[in-house]
Parts: sequence; C-alpha cells; structure tokens
Amino acid sequence: MSIAVITGSSGLIGSETARFLHEKGLRIVGIDNDMRGYFFGADGSTSWNTKQLQHDLKNYEHRALDVRDETAIGNLFRELGREIVLVVHAAAQPSHDWAAREPFTDFTVNANGTLVMLEMTRQHSPEATFIFTSTNKVYGDLPNSLPLVEGGTRWEVAETHPYYEHGIDESMSIDQSKHSLFGASKVAADVLTQEYGRYFGLKTGTFRGGCLTGPAHSGAELHGFLAYLVKCALSGKPYTIYGYKGKQVRDNIHSYDLVNAFWHFFQNPVPGAVYNMGGSRHSNCSMLEAIADTEKLCGRKLNYVLSDQARSGDHIWWISDVRKFQSDYPSWSYRYDLQSILEEIVAATGERLGAASRVSG
Ligand SMILES: NC(=O)c1ccc[n+]([C@@H]2O[C@H](COP(=O)([O-])OP(=O)(O)OC[C@H]3O[C@@H](n4cnc5c(N)ncnc54)[C@H](O)[C@@H]3O)[C@@H](O)[C@H]2O)c1
Repeated sequence: MSIAVITGSSGLIGSETARFLHEKGLRIVGIDNDMRGYFFGADGSTSWNTKQLQHDLKNYEHRALDVRDETAIGNLFRELGREIVLVVHAAAQPSHDWAAREPFTDFTVNANGTLVMLEMTRQHSPEATFIFTSTNKVYGDLPNSLPLVEGGTRWEVAETHPYYEHGIDESMSIDQSKHSLFGASKVAADVLTQEYGRYFGLKTGTFRGGCLTGPAHSGAELHGFLAYLVKCALSGKPYTIYGYKGKQVRDNIHSYDLVNAFWHFFQNPVPGAVYNMGGSRHSNCSMLEAIADTEKLCGRKLNYVLSDQARSGDHIWWISDVRKFQSDYPSWSYRYDLQSILEEIVAATGERLGAASRVSG
C-alpha cells in the first residue's frame, strides 16, 4: 500500500490531509508531537485530533516525533523508503507574535524542520511528491505599501490597481520588507523547498496560504483567527482586534479546498512550483465583517475590544490571486465560501465546547 507521510498531522491542514488521502486509499503515517500545545497552551493543543484520527482512520499510524529530529525522521524514512509516494509537510510554528518569544525554536521548527523533511525525502524516497505549506507572510509587509482605500467596514486596494480584480500574485517580491521572525523562518523553508525542486529535481510544490481555516482548527488567540473568533463568540470570552480599526482584510480558504489542491498537484507535479493559495475574491472578509457574520450565526454578540496596536508585520489587505494554480490545474475549484466555512466552524466549535463542559461538569 502506498504511503503518505504527513507532518503536523493533528493540526488543521495535516488532519484534513490525513482524512482526504486515507479516503483515496493511501496508508497514512502522521508525525505530530503536539507542539501547538506548547506554543499556545490548552486552547492550542491538538491531542484531541490525534485521538480522533486514530479512532476514525483504519490505516492511520501516529508517530509523536519532532520534525527537527534528524535521526528519528531519518529512521522513519529508512523504514518506509520508496513506499512513500507523497510527503505533506504542514508542521510549523505558525504565529508572528510567538516567534519573537523564542526565535531559536521558531527558526529551527520552521526552517531546520523543513530541511530535515526535504533531505530525508531526497535520500530515501526521491520519487515522492513533496508539498510544503508556506504562507503569504513570505511577502512581508510589502502588501501594506499598495494604494489602499478605507471603506466603511474594510480596507480595499484602489480599483485602478492591477491587483484589484483578482488579488496578489506570485510576482510580488519576498525581499526587503518586514516579515516578523515567523515570516523570515518561513521564507527560509519556502526557498529551500523550491531549491530541492530546482536543484535536485525533487517533485516539490510550495503553497503560500492566505488564512487557512476549517472546523479542525484548534483556535488560539495567537493563531487561527476565524476558529478563535467563533470560540470567543460561543463561550463569551473577550476578543481583541489588533490595529487597523478591525478593517483589515483576509481571504479564507477551507482546509478541504486546499488539500484538494494538494491532491491535484500530486497527480501531476511541477517540480519547484510556487502557488499563492487562499480564498481569493471568492471568499474573504474584514475582521468587522467576520464578527458581524459570526454574531448572526451564533445568535449572540461578541465581547470585543479594538486595540490601536497592530501586530508587527501584519497585513492590512491580503487577497490571493489563485489563477496560476487554476491555470495549471483547471479541474480544481472551490467547494466552500465564507458563509459555509463559518457555518461549519460554528457547528463544530459548539459541539466541542459542549463536550468539554459535559466533561468538566
Ligand atoms: N492556518 C493558517 O491560517 C495558515 C496560513 C498560512 C500558512 N499556514 C501554514 O500551514 C501549515 C499548517 O497550518 P495549520 O493551521 O494546520 O497549523 P496547526 O498549528 O493547526 O498544525 C500544525 C501542527 O504541527 C505540529 N507541530 C508543530 N511543531 C512540530 C514539530 N517540531 N514536530 C512535529 N509536529 C509539530 C503541531 O502540534 C500542530 O498540530 C503551517 O506550516 C502554517 O505555517 C497556515
């Protein structure tokens, strides 16, 4: 049976990938050491999701390894070797703010961890496709220098600008802007992944995500904006919006749609390819718009405050232009829009909060 190795398998993207590929008939080896719990505390822990995967998927095997551990990852790849047909590398330290607390941890998880995964794939499974979940933060804060116009509920790029209709494409520079340490460690990993494609001919694909979201996100204040927003709305926890009057715009893609894009890439990989991948014009919102939609769905008001302090290196407006991917893989399309994404998150979060209160009660 062909094997897919998935790192960060208990996280949002890793777990969606595990379910999707299992359904396609692959044996799944998931690598996740619940470091999200270390980064973000109990809100962030993904151990609940490890248990669900082990319960739900017959051909799922969990390894609680650290992607930085070259020896342990090397042993695993030596054991599985050429049976591995696909590696999806989604383990990461994913937050701007957290990165500044422990720069060494951030960099070694994001950059060194990616190098370990690439090199072990090259040494032991050179025919495998390798997919890396990069981020739009590799563009640093350059998007903030676009001509932006303030509207009632959101910032928008000027209508006359070439990015207005479809969003920002891959030609934007990733150089000479403020990235945050997180953005910088992801740039290192992004470029390494491209290089293993271009230099060694490994079948690598780099997907630079906008906001990735879905019901399996363990939303925490520092990461997982829609999931955390819904968690606060349903639980009554206070929520803080950082900067830009709450009018900052993000595009949101459901984890299923992203993983379906991975699947299309795996069928016909273009070594070294880079794609911007997000909700695009199809699915995007400002914080204020997301709050209004969430309140409507939850049937209650969110208790939130607006802080003047923006997160360093944060985007004011980001919408991904996904036409490069669409042109390489024309049969891929979105299943979810913003409304259906929010509906799913509200339902799943309500269920999880209900289960947690039954346990503690
Ligand atoms: N969620 C987003 O909005 C977003 C946006 C753009 C890019 N991304 C990228 O997509 C990828 C997946 O994001 P996500 O939202 O699923 O993140 P997530 O935090 O939900 O999942 C990542 C998983 O990796 C695990 N992990 C972390 N460090 C590890 C290590 N050293 N060894 C083994 N496991 C480790 C964590 O425990 C967690 O379960 C990340 O690379 C992230 O940077 C995410």
